[in-house]
Amino acid sequence: MILMRIDSFVCAFAALGVLFISPFSHAADLARGRALVERSTCAACHGKDLKTPVSADYPKLAGQHADYLYAAMRAYQNGGNSIIGRKNPIMAAQMQSFSQRDLHDLAAYIESLPGDLVLKK
Ligand code: HEC
Repeated sequence: MILMRIDSFVCAFAALGVLFISPFSHAADLARGRALVERSTCAACHGKDLKTPVSADYPKLAGQHADYLYAAMRAYQNGGNSIIGRKNPIMAAQMQSFSQRDLHDLAAYIESLPGDLVLKK
């Protein structure tokens, strides 16, 4: 009886661990991020290498920090939130179908691309 209780306690604990740890232990998947970019239309505006945008209205993305890219993409999804949202109808539409995992993978892949964003001091 006591053993069964310990067993179920351990199981419950392990299940909780999986629940709480898994969202954070997911390592971004570059190949998945690349596939997402290739099956989307990002290149049509941001350029085929994501650093030669077709117009000055579209930012260069390649090589930008993944944290920044993730926060920006999340903010377009949250466009309705006046504090953390970015209100841009074009990018809001682009981002709607992506999950959080998608955004992390996209951000990691875009960061890995050679870019010419430089910090000038
Ligand atoms: C129809 C044109 C268009 C397409 C397609 C498009 N974007 Fe954008 N993107 C824009 C514009 C315009 C902005 C600038 C919006 C603003 O002023 O906030 C932007 C901004 C961004 C930013 C913020 C960059 C920064 O420096 O803050 C990211 C990240 C981004 N796009 C990623 C993507 C990804 C990933 C895709 C493909 C899934 C994509 N975009 C598809 C037009 C586009």
